[in-house]
Amino acid sequence: MATKMFVLLLIFAVLSSHCYSGSISIYWGQNQQEGTLADTCKTGRFEYVIISFLCVFGNNQIPQLDLDDHCDPSTKGCVGLADDIRSCQSRGVKVLLSIGGGDGVYILVSSEEAKEFADYLWNNYLGGNSTDRPFGDAVLDGIDFDIEGGSPSHYDELAGHLKNYTSEKKVYLTAAPQCPFPDVYVGQALSTGLFDYVWMQFYNNYCEYKGNASDVKATFDEWSDGVPATKFFLGLPAAPSGASSGFIPQNVLISQILPLIKKADKYGGVMLWSKYYDDLTGYSSSIKSHV
Ligand SMILES: *[C@@H]1O[C@H](CO)[C@@H](O)[C@H](O)[C@H]1NC(C)=O
Ligand SMILES: *[C@@H]1O[C@H](CO)[C@@H](O)[C@H](O)[C@H]1NC(C)=O
Ligand SMILES: *[C@@H]1O[C@H](CO)[C@@H](O)[C@H](O)[C@H]1NC(C)=O
Repeated sequence: MATKMFVLLLIFAVLSSHCYSGSISIYWGQNQQEGTLADTCKTGRFEYVIISFLCVFGNNQIPQLDLDDHCDPSTKGCVGLADDIRSCQSRGVKVLLSIGGGDGVYILVSSEEAKEFADYLWNNYLGGNSTDRPFGDAVLDGIDFDIEGGSPSHYDELAGHLKNYTSEKKVYLTAAPQCPFPDVYVGQALSTGLFDYVWMQFYNNYCEYKGNASDVKATFDEWSDGVPATKFFLGLPAAPSGASSGFIPQNVLISQILPLIKKADKYGGVMLWSKYYDDLTGYSSSIKSHV
């Protein structure tokens, strides 16, 4: 009898802890030492892996992907990633492509260009068709907007076009705004209500954690109250060297910050920059069971 009770309690504990658990999303692609995409997914720690970056587009430029030394897209060298992408997806990991980034050269100069770029993304990375798909016939789960420069114009239209393609597979839209609300570059796109997940960058910004967890919660709430998206994630560098500022030691995140932000209605989890930095600290391993 006592054993039965114990087993029931244990089952209840496991079920309830799952109900409240969040996810970890992570950027991959900017340092070859971080290991393969397939291995990143095999760790079982990440629900979303974001390939970064498609860092050149718009203003009549030919779109360019930069994946450091992982592979060279200019010689069709990244087609082999198709197997990695499928391997990730077979484990239930969603694989997204991030457009923009901190070092890119990008801007959408007209509504026509927003439509052309949407077609380009659809045909080359999503459910469309082209003879030159950088990742072969793998179909990504969606597009991440990491717009940190250029102009805020036409990203709302880009999001609208991407959402309007019909296929058997949902196209996820995500964004990585800076934590000051609202965001200069993707604020307008986010207000369309077309985005699934928003991972705010709580680093290299004045609104990052500075010793008071309530401040982080207040900024988090501003985002989740102010943007019509499904879920919100706390974006963090996975190592002190991953950003100029904003690293939060794992024990502080676990004991002070997660307990607060997990109370937010649309709490989704934690986003980490990046797999390379995560390998240096073991950040995702230490926080996984608390997210
Ligand atoms: C693209 O079209 C070709 C020829 O119709 C087909 O063989 C291929 O599977 C298609 N690729 C995708 C990703 O739909
Ligand atoms: C997407 O489709 C909806 C419904 O048909 C339409 O109202 C909207 O204008 C379309 N968006 C774009 C960017 O074409
Ligand atoms: C922490 O921030 C909250 C508001 O975000 C404020 O009310 C509180 O006084 C602050 N605590 C300390 C110790 O500064």
